Amino acid sequence: MTTDDITLHRGLAGVYFDRSATTFIDGKEGVLEYRGYNIDELAELSTFEETAYLLIHGELPTQTQLDNYDADLKGARELPEQIFDILALIKDSHPMDALRTAVSALAGFDPDRNDNSAEATIRKGLRLTSQVPSIVMAHHNIRAGKDPIKPSTTLNHAGNFLYMMDGKEPSAQAMNLMDKDFVLHADHGSNASAFTARVVAGTAADLHGAITAGIAALSGPSHGGAAENVMQMAREIGKAENAADYVQDLLSNRKRVMGFGHRVYKAEDPRAGHLREGVKDLSEEMGQPEWYRILEAVVDAMKPYTRRGIHVNVDFFAGVIYYLNGIPQDLFVPIFAVGRIPGWTIQVIEQFEHNILIRPLLQYTGKRNRKYVPIAERG
Ligand code: CMC
Repeated sequence: MTTDDITLHRGLAGVYFDRSATTFIDGKEGVLEYRGYNIDELAELSTFEETAYLLIHGELPTQTQLDNYDADLKGARELPEQIFDILALIKDSHPMDALRTAVSALAGFDPDRNDNSAEATIRKGLRLTSQVPSIVMAHHNIRAGKDPIKPSTTLNHAGNFLYMMDGKEPSAQAMNLMDKDFVLHADHGSNASAFTARVVAGTAADLHGAITAGIAALSGPSHGGAAENVMQMAREIGKAENAADYVQDLLSNRKRVMGFGHRVYKAEDPRAGHLREGVKDLSEEMGQPEWYRILEAVVDAMKPYTRRGIHVNVDFFAGVIYYLNGIPQDLFVPIFAVGRIPGWTIQVIEQFEHNILIRPLLQYTGKRNRKYVPIAERG
């Protein structure tokens, strides 16, 4: 084969590499569906627990199924003592590094280790769904010199996550917004972290390995890290009147405006609008409406770019919601991971179902046929 015969797909953009019955995305029209249900309905009508069940089992649960699933999730929130010791040893790490390390370590404590059957992977995924919030908040407290807060046995997934931050029961509005955020983040097709998880599963490695790698992929600013950067940007902008100049300055230096653009969506990310209202309401309720005004001023400044398919994405409004809920900036990406565990789990299960090693090719551009020169003769 000559180099002329090779078609490169850098970044694998536009390449279909397998089939999936979990999440449908139409990037041109801005449509997202989990198992055939539109995200607009799920965001407004469903809960994280119900959506997670839907993703994993393919159907919305009956009340009994949901009650059992919810009880199983609540029963799996505790962490082995050794995980707290590990978190204490790495207390100064970025929370994503701490999360990645703790999830990796949990593999050794899981009762289903060495079992990659669908049933065992579902059980492991359920445990990780409950353990990941506990890890994030345990690390958060340990690094502040405090004891981790025992998970609630009654609050829902979103409420328990917020509760474990400071031991205070969150407001209904804070809980609802967090729940909606988790629903919106639960899966998203073959994004970088899910693809990474599939590559790991493709070698027949286990769910903990796949999710550990997925967390690593998620941590970068081109993927999950954007919410953190959007909040940083909003702080730097300071007030709405500064937004246009700030954005212009970024763009004229060929820098990216965080929370804008998407590899798949060339219309507005259908997840973003559900959080827009949340920012508006919460910032007004908390007497800090400037945050919403800053974000809207950035959206206005970016209007000329919508013609090029650069719209707000899910991360744009999320950061300010987290901030207003008192969540530190470096926990924003871990929140994305908390919501994404069901998505990574089902994608690993799909990968196992008809597994194939994922092993693409690289076009070689280096030198060839060089003669080995002994070290003494090298100039
Ligand atoms: N600000 C300014 N220009 C942008 C942006 C942006 N946020 N995003 C893309 N562009 C421009 C880019 O400069 C390029 O212009 P040109 O053709 O003149 O060089 C053009 O749009 C195409 O960009 P690309 O890098 O080829 O597009 P991509 O599909 O590789 O990038 C992206 C997708 C998400 C990495 C990118 O849009 C980006 O870096 N956005 C900012 C980070 C961000 O918000 N990430 C969160 C993504 S949503 C969460 C998730 O689902 O993972």
